[in-house]
Amino acid sequence: MLKCEKMSELSFLTTGHYDIYLKGKEKQNWDRDLDWSLAEDDLIPEHLKDTAIAVASLSAHVEVLGMQNAAELLSDCEDFALKIGLGQAVNDEARHAELFSKYVMLANGNVQDLSKNTEIYDQHFSTLTDFDDIFLSHVFLENGALEQFNIFIQAFGSNSLIGQIYKGALQDEARHVQMGINYFREQIIKNPYKVKKIKDHLNQFQNILHVNDAGINWLAEISGKSYEEIKNRVENRQSGFVNKILEEKCYA
Ligand SMILES: [Fe+2]
Ligand SMILES: [Fe+2]
Repeated sequence: MLKCEKMSELSFLTTGHYDIYLKGKEKQNWDRDLDWSLAEDDLIPEHLKDTAIAVASLSAHVEVLGMQNAAELLSDCEDFALKIGLGQAVNDEARHAELFSKYVMLANGNVQDLSKNTEIYDQHFSTLTDFDDIFLSHVFLENGALEQFNIFIQAFGSNSLIGQIYKGALQDEARHVQMGINYFREQIIKNPYKVKKIKDHLNQFQNILHVNDAGINWLAEISGKSYEEIKNRVENRQSGFVNKILEEKCYA
């Protein structure tokens, strides 16, 4: 069934969603020049080689989940400009899943099975049915990934192959997050009551959506930074997301 606004009434050329889509279109080949010959002996500190395999394996799992969530949103979305943006996001997530898996397969022989680590997300998303709830959880996790990807790039080095992959994926994720922020801003302008819905959702699922203490310790260990510094970075990123949705209007 065609789930889209009436095609003869389309008017999307000046929308923010279309702007983001156009930016994404220019970046579709960012992985073309990656040097895969580095995979077997990547330019990362020796003591982080096993960590890079584990981190990239986990990312491969999470990207498949992100691709599926974006695909679900894409099929339910009726706004044309957002729909093609989500279509592009599905393609971006497919590329991320491909690149992280390919990296680990070349470097390690096979992707480590970390499906247990993603069960909490599987369960969470399987309980959500409302478009806004799925989108909000999805985009909040993507926003958190921005900070984690930054930490990985710094730890592994931006000249390493894995650093380059995280750098490219980070730029895609930043666009996806902006698409989500634009969507929720639009929703709030149409219906200010949605502020409460957004805050309630983020509070209710805080345990799942926020990086927990074990995650912060793990990121601190990888990066060689202090627990406090990582905690601050993660918390600022999380609160920054909510502030960006609410900015321009004083709904807080
Ligand atoms: Fe991704
Ligand atoms: Fe994404």
